Amino acid sequence: MLHILKKIIPEPLKRKLKSHQHSAYLRESTKYAYIGEAGPLIRCVFDKIKDIPGWFNIDDCAHFFLILSYQSAIGLKGDLLEIGSYHGRSTALMAKCLQPDEKIVICDAFEIDTDDKYSDKPSPERLVSNIKRLNPNVENERIIIHKCLSNKLKLGREIFRFAHIDGGHSMDQVYFDLNLCSKHIIENGIIAVDDYYNSQWPGVTKGTNHFLSENREFSVLADLNRHGALGRKLYLIKQG
Ligand SMILES: C[S@@+](CC[C@H](N)C(=O)[O-])C[C@H]1O[C@@H](n2cnc3c(N)ncnc32)[C@H](O)[C@@H]1O
Repeated sequence: MLHILKKIIPEPLKRKLKSHQHSAYLRESTKYAYIGEAGPLIRCVFDKIKDIPGWFNIDDCAHFFLILSYQSAIGLKGDLLEIGSYHGRSTALMAKCLQPDEKIVICDAFEIDTDDKYSDKPSPERLVSNIKRLNPNVENERIIIHKCLSNKLKLGREIFRFAHIDGGHSMDQVYFDLNLCSKHIIENGIIAVDDYYNSQWPGVTKGTNHFLSENREFSVLADLNRHGALGRKLYLIKQG
């Protein structure tokens, strides 16, 4: 049937149908092959981390890369923080954007039991080796790993220009993590919250909204959907 149709449909109509199919793919596909000629961020960056287990996708990669590079371009300095690294797909991208005198601080439960269950538990060793896929020269002293639940995380005088919250998904946990990060974020620094508005994790939205209602110095810089992902990432900025 299909081969008969192919013969009788005139060429211009075939081309029109093909282009329509392409734009439909653009909206729904999770394959970046459909978005056209891949740029260096895909070829040189995302290609090296996409097989690390995790949920950080090509859009997140672009958004983080742009924000972190822009911060450095305007001279904003500070360490980077991630709560919930898993095997380090997002961590690797963050560490790639470190400036020479900056550190990345990571808190993950690793093998400790968490409310959300992960069968393939990460380890600090594998995390470090995954981080080095994108930044092979980063010294171990600049990768600070806290193997604990974020409720037990003790931060000193660290000041962060960017924090990524992607650990526990309950309302209380997200509210706690946001409050913790907020005390260490530099003015004009950013907190990215994963799984905002994800129907599978309603606690994230509730915890974030609760935090925002109490902390007027933080506002939403961007609320971004991502290719093929259920939830969004919410980018909060601290301003005065
Ligand atoms: C969704 S995964 C992180 C994914 C990763 N950021 C990525 O984009 O690929 C969540 C991680 O948070 C950790 N985690 C869950 N609850 C936590 C808690 N209360 N404190 C610290 N880490 C937690 C888990 O061990 C897991 O590795």
